[in-house]
Amino acid sequence: MHQRRPRPAPAEWPRPHFIQLHRQDMAAVRAELAAGLGASPARLAPKYFYDALGSRLFDAITELDEYYPTRTEAAIFRGDAQAMARQVPAGAVWFDLGAGSCAKAASLFEVMRPGAYVPIDISVDYLREAVAALQERHPALPMLGLGLDFSSALDLPGQALDWLAGHGLQGAPRCVFYPGSSIGNFTPAEAARLLGQVHALCAGGAPGSGLLIGVDRVKSLAVLEPAYDDTLGVTAAFNRNLLRHVNRLLCSDFEPARWRHVAFFDEGLSRIEMHLASQGEQTVRWPGGQRQFADGERLHTENSYKWTPDGFEALLRGAGFAEVTHWTDARGWFSVFWARA
Ligand code: AVI
Repeated sequence: MHQRRPRPAPAEWPRPHFIQLHRQDMAAVRAELAAGLGASPARLAPKYFYDALGSRLFDAITELDEYYPTRTEAAIFRGDAQAMARQVPAGAVWFDLGAGSCAKAASLFEVMRPGAYVPIDISVDYLREAVAALQERHPALPMLGLGLDFSSALDLPGQALDWLAGHGLQGAPRCVFYPGSSIGNFTPAEAARLLGQVHALCAGGAPGSGLLIGVDRVKSLAVLEPAYDDTLGVTAAFNRNLLRHVNRLLCSDFEPARWRHVAFFDEGLSRIEMHLASQGEQTVRWPGGQRQFADGERLHTENSYKWTPDGFEALLRGAGFAEVTHWTDARGWFSVFWARA
């Protein structure tokens, strides 16, 4: 009969370690928002979508019939995990970029057998609960939560290097995990810069280190546009909620009901663009500034670039990656790339 191994008592469980490096500078946030609102055309950065309600609305988006990326990527991971495990070295230190709930990485642990797990998000407060629960399920796996804005720089702080050395992992292979096609929310130039930094992080590990990344692909307008303009209006709510968040950060007086959600695919630039269009003429005010919007004038809120496999492979090689493989779904809608440093 199968006997369950006794679980260690809670006091003996290893505890995950956390390091918070990013400090939110409110003056800089307000200056960035005001500069975007003063620009022509006006713009707001998509990172401000994700307050508490925005994060829940994004979770709801991933369940919409029209929003195929999340479930398509999950199917690729389910179907090709064994093949991926032949590329990703067992015992690697996994750096999970924008980890959030840590669920995607955790679903691969059994097959991929990491040697340590380092989830990275802007604030360790987003990670604490998920990492604590994951540590209970994987008591022997060292875990370090890092609060870092990796979109501006991806250098490992000395404390993290000390933590790796303390676990005998300074020379271990590294796997940077970046699922969800979040790379699509960067311009190609920004993506190239970020991938260059990811390459440097991988190059600091043993040979065989690399990047496992999910990338949404170019496809027909009939599939792309409804994914960003769904019938239930969840993406529209997600887009307008940005204005509520900006009101709190900037003390501005946006009225979300007076803005219409606009989403379309620009084939020349290979990107979905999301905007908010002013319904009627209006003036938005905040301490120290204001902006008038004409009827129909747009405020640009997000780009979501779609890549061809060849185009993304060229981007990876340009960032220094030497070997590139990818897996896709039956319809060729999404790809998961493994790029060896
Ligand atoms: C997070 N990111 C990959 C999503 C995307 O598809 O670009 C954000 C999103 N915006 C609208 N719907 C989803």
